[in-house]
Amino acid sequence: MSSHLYSNIGQLVTNDPALGGGILGVLDDAALLIEDGRVAWVGANSYAPAADQRTDVGGAAVIPGFVDSHSHPIFAGDRANEFAARMAGESYSAGGIRSTVTATRAASDAQLEANLLRLATEFRASGITTFEAKSGYGLTVEDEARALEIAARHTAETTYLGAHVVSPDFAGRADDYVALVTGDMLQAAAPHAKWIDVFCDRGAFDVDQARQILEAGIAAGLQPRIHANQLENIGAIALAVELDCASADHCTHLTHADIDALAGSNTVATLLPGAEFSTRSPYPDARRLIEAGATVAIATDCNPGSSYTTSMPFCIAVAVREMRFTPAEALWAATAGGAKALRRSDVGNLAVGARADFNVLGAPSFIHLAYRPGVNLIKQTIVGGLA
Ligand code: NIG
Ligand code: FE
Repeated sequence: MSSHLYSNIGQLVTNDPALGGGILGVLDDAALLIEDGRVAWVGANSYAPAADQRTDVGGAAVIPGFVDSHSHPIFAGDRANEFAARMAGESYSAGGIRSTVTATRAASDAQLEANLLRLATEFRASGITTFEAKSGYGLTVEDEARALEIAARHTAETTYLGAHVVSPDFAGRADDYVALVTGDMLQAAAPHAKWIDVFCDRGAFDVDQARQILEAGIAAGLQPRIHANQLENIGAIALAVELDCASADHCTHLTHADIDALAGSNTVATLLPGAEFSTRSPYPDARRLIEAGATVAIATDCNPGSSYTTSMPFCIAVAVREMRFTPAEALWAATAGGAKALRRSDVGNLAVGARADFNVLGAPSFIHLAYRPGVNLIKQTIVGGLA
């Protein structure tokens, strides 16, 4: 059993409120002992136990690794021109997904995996230590299954999103496509997926279709999550709560009743600041969600259309500046909140027993993540105790 002590931590965020220091469980002048890839001890620097190895972080802040609970990193091509057109006044629509579908189908497995690896490397560089990955740019039995097979080589959090939009091969035959998504495609995808997701929104799937799709996934052993009300409120939140989805994502358009329903449920509201930023859309009402007591996560939504960012610090900065999260709320949402959205308790915190996934910042305080936007403050990332 080898042990490694990280000492002289100016500010340690544990997300363990039992340690004091508010919801973030912040300890000043702290140390962190890692044994066998797990947190074995946290406490005052002056009481730090002996260890086989010791790293003095020189007063830096240490935070849990970010948990990105929503990304679409298995695709080919990009949509830079669509972004430029949007910045010149065009609006975002679900239809853009189909151009990525064409490029993704044409790509080889090796190309798709290389692109995923490139994005996973970027995730890691931005301090993300756990990421979820959705399919959804294949929309055939074979293309959805291969996307998930590739994703499962790189993350345990794989999500079947055959119901991203109606496949172009099924134009005008949405019901037939739903039958495929809940039938042969589900059977091919399920062995490689943990979650099932559906884009329940204008231009994608309505609430009845989404219910059918999620229920089929649940029957096949997958756990539900949902893209809810990004473009319009079509009633997706009530469905999310009804089916006990782990997460309702986007939540750009919410009624007061939606907010109360989320607050009274086990469904996390996952907000995606990169999507509103990159589609120039109004931001969701994060303050109301937080004040009502809903559990809120922040994720990158990394995808080539609506949010082509892999940077969690960027998302935190936007959440603070534009959505009025406090810096502490935003950090919690990007770590513990993301873990809750994936129904995980072993990541997103640095309590004793948690996986030793953490970031040493090039800053004395986590506030700098929002205070110094666009600056790379992720000095070192440790995953499972390994640098
Ligand atoms: O989460 N909203 C649906 N899916 C993605 C966008 C996909 C795309 O535009 O390619 C999202 O924003
Ligand atoms: Fe998404």
